[in-house]
Amino acid sequence: MAYLSIHDDGPVRVIRIARDERLNALNLALVDELVAALEAADAEPQVRAVVVTGGEKAFAAGADIAEMADATAVDMKLRDQFRAWDRILGVHKPVIAAVRGFALGGGCELAMACDLVIAGESAKFGQPEVKLGLMPGAGGTQWLARRLGKARALELLWLGEPITAQEAMALGLVNRVVPDDTCVAAAVELGKRLAEMPPVALRCIKEAVYQAMDTTLADGLEAERNLFYLLFATEDAREGMRAFMERRKPSFRGR
Ligand code: CAA
Repeated sequence: MAYLSIHDDGPVRVIRIARDERLNALNLALVDELVAALEAADAEPQVRAVVVTGGEKAFAAGADIAEMADATAVDMKLRDQFRAWDRILGVHKPVIAAVRGFALGGGCELAMACDLVIAGESAKFGQPEVKLGLMPGAGGTQWLARRLGKARALELLWLGEPITAQEAMALGLVNRVVPDDTCVAAAVELGKRLAEMPPVALRCIKEAVYQAMDTTLADGLEAERNLFYLLFATEDAREGMRAFMERRKPSFRGR
């Protein structure tokens, strides 16, 4: 792992992007490593949630501009660098971003691709690509338009100015804002709470919520219903309902 440092805190895998000298600029190799690490965490049963974090000054300052500065359109088309990003959305387990400092361009897109975001007070979110004569390529226009609506998305994307953690919170991009020095711990704590929940139910809920962003209400309701029925095939649903009836704490096994 050249660009990441990884450790487990109980059932929570903590993946830290550690290219601090370049403010965690997301070069191709780094993104490949990150996606592989997320997929590995997804495949390991003892891992129940994942925290993705960066450094104190930057979560990630965007795609690596040095890697793109001389690229032609054909280079970029052949490189197809955002294909790897699609795999982030294929991760089934909860992924929590713990963001301190700059989350710009691809860094903001990475935070938005995570399921939940805990922001340190220093966090700055933005899509400054326009100032490079570019635009977001890793989902920024799509996430912001879906989540903030057209007008606020266009303002952020056209002006390229960053917003604070509190502003991101008010816009619904962030779950909570905490002091910087407790940011990773708060994300891990949230991951541990999720780790106590039935994993198959978490997975089905994630599937239904992402589908809601991308489908008609009728199709979304149908999908939700089918996932709801599917959970009746799990031992955890039996256990959860029985524990309620027996007035005891449930013990979920992920089956
Ligand atoms: N790519 C490559 N290198 C980067 C980088 C990036 N996105 N962001 C920072 N760096 C490098 C700097 O070049 C610098 O390297 P050197 O020390 O070798 O000069 C080092 O990281 C420290 O950065 P600064 O000296 O610039 O630090 P600062 O505190 O003065 O400024 C900053 C911080 C405002 C975040 C500034 O670094 C900046 O504006 N970075 C670029 C942000 C950006 O435009 N991101 C979008 C990239 S395009 C994209 O992401 C496309 C997409 O959709 C995926």
